[in-house]
Amino acid sequence: MQENIVPEKTVQEKIVRENGVREISTSSVVGAAPEGALDPHSASQAVREMFTLIAPRYDLLNHVLSFNIDRMWWRRTARTFRNILLRPDARILDLCCGTGDMTFALSRQAGKSSAQILGADFSHAMLLRATAKSSSSQQNGSTPGWIEADALSLPFPGAHFDLVTSAFGFRNLADYDAGLREIVRVLRPGGESGILDFGEPKGVVGALYRIYFKQVLPRVGTLISGVPGPYSYLPASVERFPPPEEMLRRMRHAGFSEPTWTRYTLGIAGLYRGKKLAYRPSPRRCS
Ligand SMILES: C[S@@+](CC[C@H](N)C(=O)[O-])C[C@H]1O[C@@H](n2cnc3c(N)ncnc32)[C@H](O)[C@@H]1O
Repeated sequence: MQENIVPEKTVQEKIVRENGVREISTSSVVGAAPEGALDPHSASQAVREMFTLIAPRYDLLNHVLSFNIDRMWWRRTARTFRNILLRPDARILDLCCGTGDMTFALSRQAGKSSAQILGADFSHAMLLRATAKSSSSQQNGSTPGWIEADALSLPFPGAHFDLVTSAFGFRNLADYDAGLREIVRVLRPGGESGILDFGEPKGVVGALYRIYFKQVLPRVGTLISGVPGPYSYLPASVERFPPPEEMLRRMRHAGFSEPTWTRYTLGIAGLYRGKKLAYRPSPRRCS
């Protein structure tokens, strides 16, 4: 797989102005689009194949390419939800958990609390790595459970979880609005969600970062993983991901109250946070 964008027009969201209110059209799909993917189904398949291919070297590459800052981001995200994690009856779902580092950070933060923590991913190969790490002695905290599942169609009843997180996974969903709706569905009223993902820093830092992200990272990633494609997909997928204002609008539209975005490390990454409305008013009209 090489550089990957599906022609913008086929998936571009339509934002319409109606009575001065900006609304998001539900008639078009915005999501990840690896090369060759013409619809959300084939995009999803391509994403799964890509992560399955790089699973053996995923952890090593993550730490090398992020200079280990990724560990700090997972820890910081987990700390943000400490109050929920410490509740003994809390149910937590980490979506797109990959090899489990965000899930383990949540477990460590939960400490001895008996919160139930589940990591979910649709790549079997990534989950095998997560379970192997789970049984190694390096992880502290409660042992998470693992489930192979598609984030766009979760095998859980509605209103089941107190917290749903996702680290660097949400951006890979083939339909962001469907992903948000599914998170809202499985959250209890008043439950929270945290979506950690890459951003695009501005100014001089942004310019330098883009050189690294677009020129250096794909080459090193391809060299170490031995798989051409995924590490070119990464910067392209970040470029394609909606900017914070738009993501926040989409979150509100999906049913989150007062969502926020917190910049991590000069905006290289950031955490979207939202609470499911305790009461859901009837959906706003979309065109
Ligand atoms: C970049 S990795 C992130 C892994 C981990 N959360 C981390 O922080 O390292 C993205 C993960 O999302 C998973 N993924 C992408 N789309 C998915 C979907 N629709 N359902 C479940 N998992 C998905 C991929 O299989 C992959 O393991």
